[in-house]
Amino acid sequence: MAYENIILEREEKLAVLYINRPKAMNALNKDTLLEIKDAVTAVNEDPAVELLIITGSGDKSFVAGADIAFMQNLSAMEAREFGALGQKVFRLIEAVEKPVIAAVNGFALGGGCELAMCCDFRIAASNAKFGQPEVGLGITPGFGGTQRLPRLVGPGMAKQLLYTADVINADEAFRIGLVNKVVQPEELLPEVKKIAGRILSKGQLAVRLSKAAANEGMQTDIDRAMSIEADAFGLCFATQDQKEGMTAFLEKRKANFISK
Ligand code: HXC
Repeated sequence: MAYENIILEREEKLAVLYINRPKAMNALNKDTLLEIKDAVTAVNEDPAVELLIITGSGDKSFVAGADIAFMQNLSAMEAREFGALGQKVFRLIEAVEKPVIAAVNGFALGGGCELAMCCDFRIAASNAKFGQPEVGLGITPGFGGTQRLPRLVGPGMAKQLLYTADVINADEAFRIGLVNKVVQPEELLPEVKKIAGRILSKGQLAVRLSKAAANEGMQTDIDRAMSIEADAFGLCFATQDQKEGMTAFLEKRKANFISK
């Protein structure tokens, strides 16, 4: 598929997906969502890629939301379909077997905040701005914001942001736990790649099992969640990585993981 609204770059084991609609602050229309779906599916299925970074092109905007011009005249059924498409694509991102990091480089509003929230975690540039401004447009969030924001920052803070449509800066997003770290804009991708490098130096099967256990466990009761963890832990002992990791520790050398 040829992309017009996104750019997918490969750098060794990393893939970097740029949302690229500079004239509309990288807002998401249907075509952009379909391109993201295609790219994320390709990344998930490519054994050479071990980690995905999602960011916005340019230095002003990560994603300024769903495309308001596109949505303006939708019928109720068309709007439902558009929301459901975004939800499906964002669930796909959440379920990518490999780590996915959002590098938030400016406005992450509405669908942009929702895109950032379906990634495993978020690192922000100091000029990043977050918010769910939908009620100011007379709509609710539709790409998962009413569900993921309370899970990430707690129901009280999430509801305040949802009801007021307040836009918060990167430091406030850090304070409430929406982002893990704030860096200078020029340091954003280098910092995210540094974190990616630390992840990639570890056993990738164990990283992926950790992701799956955390994601699945958070959706269920604690007893079932512990059982999911026990299964993941047990499965590690069928991998070469577990043998290498423990042997390397005992031999006082650096592990050389092969993800098998
Ligand atoms: C369509 C958008 C857009 C968006 C910006 N643009 N955001 N177009 N959809 N979400 C366009 C503007 O119309 C403008 O086009 C150009 O990008 C530059 O934007 P400006 O407003 O001139 O820039 P600036 O003054 O710097 O303000 C930036 C901004 C503002 C704060 C990000 O654009 C803004 O508030 N945008 C809307 C944010 C928002 O409400 N997002 C939530 C959408 S609802 P022209 O042609 O005039 O140059 C949503 C629902 C998700 O996301 C769920 C759906 C199911």
